[in-house]
Parts: sequence; C-alpha cells; structure tokens
Amino acid sequence: MTTAIAHPNIALVKYWGKRDAALNLPAVPSLSLTLSRYHTRTEVLWGATADQVWLDGRAATPREAGKVFAFLDLIDPSRPPVEVRSVNSFPTAAGLASSASAFAALALAATEAAGRPLPLEALSALARRGSGSAARSLWGGFVAWELGERADGADSHGVQVADERWWDLALVVAVVSSGPKAVGSSEGMARSRATSPYYPLWVEGGPADVERARAAVLARDLPALGEVMESSTFKMHATMHTAVPPLLYQAPATTAVLHEVQALRARGIGAWSTMDAGPNVKVLCASEDAERVAEALRPLVERVDTLAPGPGAHLL
Ligand code: PMV
Repeated sequence: MTTAIAHPNIALVKYWGKRDAALNLPAVPSLSLTLSRYHTRTEVLWGATADQVWLDGRAATPREAGKVFAFLDLIDPSRPPVEVRSVNSFPTAAGLASSASAFAALALAATEAAGRPLPLEALSALARRGSGSAARSLWGGFVAWELGERADGADSHGVQVADERWWDLALVVAVVSSGPKAVGSSEGMARSRATSPYYPLWVEGGPADVERARAAVLARDLPALGEVMESSTFKMHATMHTAVPPLLYQAPATTAVLHEVQALRARGIGAWSTMDAGPNVKVLCASEDAERVAEALRPLVERVDTLAPGPGAHLL
C-alpha cells in the first residue's frame, strides 16, 4: 500500500471555464491557497486482485469509480488491477474543493505505487486531468496555476508563489450546506461558456487578476488580496447567473453571510468573501481576526471551520 495525503485549496482568483475539456486546460489562470487541517488520505495498492475504489468507507458508484480508473489508465494504460481507498476529513462535493485534494493525493500515491514517480510540475499536470483545481494542491501556501501554451497541456500546472509559512492568514469556512451540489463544475463551466454574454469579459480579465493577487501575496497586502478575490468571485458568479438556464449555487444563508462580512468590514475588521460552485462562503482575514469573524458567522450557518494556510501533498 502506498499512502498520500493532500489538502484542498480554495481559489482566491478563480478557475472557471476550459479551453480544452478533454485535457482540463483552463481558459483563465488562477491562484489559490492550500488549506490546513482538511485533507484527503488515499491508499493505493497497485497489483490488487481486482479494480476497486472505496470512498469514505463505501464502495464508489460506477461513475466515481470510472473517473478513478480512467485517471489510473493515464499513468499506465496496461496497468494491473488497482485498489484505491480514499477518505476525506471534510464534506465532499459542497464547494469545498474535495476533488482538488482527491486527485492530488491519487496522482501522488498512484504514480509512486506504480513505480513511476514524477517531478511536482508533471504530477500537477497529471492531477489536473482528474480535476482542474487539483493541479494547485501539490504545493502548500499560495499557488498559481499557469495557463500554459502547449497543446498537450504539459506546461499547464501549478507554481508555488509563497509557502504556507509566508503569511499568517485564516480562511473561515461558513458551511451553509454540506450536501452535494446540484450542477457539477464541468457542466457549469460549459454552460457559462456557451450561454453567458459575460463569459468573454470574464476570460479577458483573468490574467490581470492573477497578477494583482500575486503582487498582493508577495507584499502581504491583505486589503489588496481581499479586493481582487471578491472581484474574481463575483465576476465568476456573474457568468453563472447569466448562463441559460442560470446557475444559482447560493442558498439564502449564503447571502446572509455575504452581508455579515460587509458589516464586519464596515466595523473595521478586514474580512473578504469568496464562493465556489456551491453555497458555502469562505472568508479571508488575518489570523488574529479569525475568532471574531467565526463568532459573527456561526449563528447564520450549519458550522464554521477556521483554517490556516496548509502544506503541499506528501507521501506517508
Ligand atoms: O476542479 P474543478 O473542475 O472542480 O473546478 C473548480 C472550480 C471552482 O472551484 C469554482 C474555482 C476554482 O478555481 O477552484
């Protein structure tokens, strides 16, 4: 058994839209923060009696297992049967980027188990094939995912901007609902691209947002980072809302949290919101403000978790 651990990441500047759906090549660059505490732990037995996938202790559905086996085939098309056991320490499919940690851990454990270890950049490009955002979970701290230029996608991988010790920030996760999302991200992206009149503007603005965020991280300028993060979030959601039919990932409590974060800011607490393809809100703030932010949000949601910058994927 080979075991790897990877942490999810939350995009501060968002990935939404593909220029190549088969290879998961993004239409925009993105920049994320890898999280502490939440993780996926994946065990791989390369050369098992039969292909098997277990997720959080249950047999995977045929659709889930199919995605895993297709991914393993990328590592070795004539591979032996493989057994995969993966456990998440946080709710899956709720806009908490579980697919990012899942495919980063699987890429690392499976290449190692297969005796085909890869350098981090190549591992990131491989993880990207499973789920785009997984390309960013190989590294800790702040990670950019470059567009790349090559048709085969080999240069579309993560690059670390600053590690997890660089900046003492907190991400307060307001869990509005831990259920699975209604429309998966690939389908949602395809719909935005095909039908939203704002999609071309969204794509055009992506590179400048990543550069602004990179500069803010390197300068440890929280208001600048918070501002570009919120702007990227709301522009992405604008392409969702203006898709046909519209993609509405927010729930009523999502809006309540967004208002509370604005109210916190009006009271002088530096806190900024981001959302993904789900109802949960993640609030970026200085670690010294995290408890006050968490306290303000707790009455509005199911659960509040306070996370810090976390490490990259590693083998056990
Ligand atoms: O990795 P995917 O294909 O699930 O896409 C993730 C998309 C967002 O979470 C909405 C944004 C991002 O950059 O992570």
